Amino acid sequence: MRMYDLIIKKRNGLSLTKEEIEFMVNGFTQGEIPDYQMSAMMMAVYFQGMDEEETLFLTLAMEHSGEVLDLSGIEGIKVDKHSTGGVGDKTSLALIPMTAACGLKVAKMSGRGLGHTGGTIDKLESFPGFTTEISTERFLKNVRENGISIMGQTKELAPADKKLYALRDVTATVDNMSLIASSIMSKKLAAGADAIVLDVKTGSGAFMKKEEDAFLLGQEMVKIGKNAGKETIAVISDMDQPLGAAVGNILEVKEAIATLNGEGPKDFETLCLTLGSHMLVAGKAAPDVQTAQEMLKETIQNKKALEKLAQFVRSQGGDDSYVYEPEKFPQASIFEAVPSPQDGYIKKIHCEEIGNCSLVLGGGRETKESNIDLTVGLVFQKKKGDYVKKGETIALIHGNDRKKTDTAKKRFLNAIAFSEQKPEETPLIKGIVKV
Ligand code: URA
Repeated sequence: MRMYDLIIKKRNGLSLTKEEIEFMVNGFTQGEIPDYQMSAMMMAVYFQGMDEEETLFLTLAMEHSGEVLDLSGIEGIKVDKHSTGGVGDKTSLALIPMTAACGLKVAKMSGRGLGHTGGTIDKLESFPGFTTEISTERFLKNVRENGISIMGQTKELAPADKKLYALRDVTATVDNMSLIASSIMSKKLAAGADAIVLDVKTGSGAFMKKEEDAFLLGQEMVKIGKNAGKETIAVISDMDQPLGAAVGNILEVKEAIATLNGEGPKDFETLCLTLGSHMLVAGKAAPDVQTAQEMLKETIQNKKALEKLAQFVRSQGGDDSYVYEPEKFPQASIFEAVPSPQDGYIKKIHCEEIGNCSLVLGGGRETKESNIDLTVGLVFQKKKGDYVKKGETIALIHGNDRKKTDTAKKRFLNAIAFSEQKPEETPLIKGIVKV
């Protein structure tokens, strides 16, 4: 088999076989197929597409390019959750303890934040001592005993995807549904869960800016999951404004804790209940989504989810007293209110730019090597559809550097649009994709 012939085949619009895709993925991962040939192949895929079978074969080849986690030693149905990323997305911090408190087994691999979206690991490291750099044995033990563990994505997990994504990123071939879906799903499948609930975000703060693209991506991923024999559901959710009120690592952790105390923002709680209910049903911990929602609400009322969070933090070396006394978390030194420049309704919040404000403050990573300031960020007091009077505070910026805080304030105001009329409400949950 020659890579040259496979490039011609795809360029001419023909489908590749399982053997051909495996040859290509394995050869590329081992350095036998050079970057320039793989780049040509990715461009051919970009223009000619891949059918459902090819997309599955590509996913499975990337999944098996490295270690595939074996969760079979843990009793019950293991469920994973994945978000395509957004601003203020602290969902895992509240959702996973809630579902684990209902008896679900959640074994999750998470990443760090890059660019305008934050990462779960960075947020969790707000707890002094907490680490996700744990051995696979400890990870499995924690899931078995507590129903919950989060581990950093290891280098051994789907290495073909890592190499291919880096190439796509510099050859203008990221934007193809089959390639995106197979990239995400190869990592999810390698993480070993039996069922996967995907939160596909859409809007100005999301990877998928257009709603129809988010649905297409959701469908592609659900099809891959089903074809790979895993129960997979995609929830399409709004990211046209930040989720909840807080953006920034410690600020988001505190908001997640408040939510587990029943004092969280409504939109955030709704998203947790929606995703959580599908997780419980997929994991056979609840008979239907209505019952599941009631069970999840109960974990907030009886504080079982909060206790689960504390147990989880403790089990990974963190100081769990912060769960009960969040005022112990360090704070930024500058608090800068952003006053509204006019009377009116908040019509639009350019969500990606809000993520960039947090980045400017030092709360995000510009490159993989950047250090982040866990204390900075911003907390919204008014959101889309709210009426504000001139001078009224829209958000409070938490900063540690005067110049950065001033820049963030300027950029924040440029990211907000006003109207005289109340804007139409946008639903948080846009749809559920199942096959
Ligand atoms: N995220 C991924 O993991 N892969 C893609 O291709 C795009 C976004």
